[in-house]
Amino acid sequence: MASLARKIIIDTDPGQDDAVAILLALASPEDLDVLGITAVAGNVPLDLTQKNARIICELAGKADVKVFAGCDRPLGRDLVTAEHVHGKTGLDGPDLPDPKMPLQGQHAVDFIIDTLRAERSGTVTLCPLGPLTNIATALQKAPDIAQRIQQIVLMGGAYFEVGNITPTAEFNIYVDPEAADITFKSGIDIVVMPLDVTHKALVTRARNDAFRDLGTPAGIAVAQMTDFFERFDKEKYGSAGAPLHDPCVTAYLIKPELFTGRHVNVEIETQSELTLGMTVADWWGVTDRAPNATFIGDLDADGFFALLAERIGRL
Ligand code: BDR
Ligand code: CA
Repeated sequence: MASLARKIIIDTDPGQDDAVAILLALASPEDLDVLGITAVAGNVPLDLTQKNARIICELAGKADVKVFAGCDRPLGRDLVTAEHVHGKTGLDGPDLPDPKMPLQGQHAVDFIIDTLRAERSGTVTLCPLGPLTNIATALQKAPDIAQRIQQIVLMGGAYFEVGNITPTAEFNIYVDPEAADITFKSGIDIVVMPLDVTHKALVTRARNDAFRDLGTPAGIAVAQMTDFFERFDKEKYGSAGAPLHDPCVTAYLIKPELFTGRHVNVEIETQSELTLGMTVADWWGVTDRAPNATFIGDLDADGFFALLAERIGRL
């Protein structure tokens, strides 16, 4: 019998929250078939994000997952990184061994293109968890893939929360606004996990304990990772703990009923120095611009953390 698991490619810049998103996907084979993981420069430079992706696969006991390195800088700008949030390695917190599994030789962008052309049209979902450079480069290089993509479910942007890396921009969109603009104008079915929802997915002390109490290497590492990067958010926002931004993407693919949002128009600011990378979401429907994305605004946080603990407990 054919597998009912949804085929996905995770495009990522790990990042502790990326790591949790990947662990959730790898722990859920009945729901998600991870065709490959493509690394992009973002939270830290590409040499570290591709290495971190492999560290996480090994932590999950899935050394057979294919990991590819992609673009090492945004389409037309210098790379901005976020070591102030994620630490020097991008995965600060746990002490995890260097990976033994190989990095694939093929460029991530070519893997994305080849996979979309080889799989039946409309059966592969892209899950970007970092700047959209690999995705936009693939769309530019092979425009035929746009209509073959089932859906893009991404973490990025903000409306009510406005911004985190600048007063008006969220990090993933800000780092490569031109790539985001290409993606949002592509006509592909897009679901967005903005800060508006991810700032409600907070690791409280009890939720952190639930990960640690799993007693497994993966559970303990997740507790240590969130311990590390909650310092930043606690200090900045006075919040209860670390927001698990990127796991909202993989949780949505497993249990969409945990999330609610609106189908609205989203445009990306690429010109203004003041508001560069802003996601101008027409949440209130005050323009006649056509909706191009489902913008998520809320989640069942208890259900989300229950799912995470249950699935990560399997690894
Ligand atoms: C996003 O930026 C990164 O720091 C996180 O991994 C997440 O993808 C949140 O703004
Ligand atoms: Ca990320």
